[in-house]
Amino acid sequence: MGQAIASRGLLAAAPVRRQTTENDRFRGAWRAQVEGVRVREDLRNRRIGTRLMEWAIGRARERGCRLVQLTSNKSRLDARRFYERLGFSASHVGMKLYL
Ligand SMILES: CC(C)(COP(=O)(O)OP(=O)(O)OC[C@H]1O[C@@H](n2cnc3c(N)ncnc32)[C@H](O)[C@@H]1OP(=O)(O)O)[C@@H](O)C(=O)NCCC(=O)NCCS
Repeated sequence: MGQAIASRGLLAAAPVRRQTTENDRFRGAWRAQVEGVRVREDLRNRRIGTRLMEWAIGRARERGCRLVQLTSNKSRLDARRFYERLGFSASHVGMKLYL
């Protein structure tokens, strides 16, 4: 799916297929992993981020993904509102082990 680099925003979106358990309703389905969503600071709040994400979601649909997933720091309440407005729900708790 590649990487979108606009002069004003940046994100990477890649389709992945996971081995999943029997009970997983997304078993064997493609899912899009979104990373590094950033809009230049002086250009925020102009819907650029929304347009970038809508592009990524559209590409995920075209590629047959059944899910778009990302992680966001819990402390970023503004970012959470941004993603929820796009239809994301914070349904899982992310876990990281820093090495
Ligand atoms: C999150 C981000 C990509 C949104 O892009 P944007 O072009 O400013 O967003 P839009 O104009 O489409 O939407 C506005 C919404 O973005 C969110 N937002 C605005 N400024 C933000 C900031 N500094 N940090 C995080 N979220 C922000 C808010 O939810 C805002 O809606 P509100 O009017 O209800 O407050 C951009 O603010 C950013 O790069 N933030 C810093 C990095 C970050 O938090 N990335 C996402 C976490 S993984």
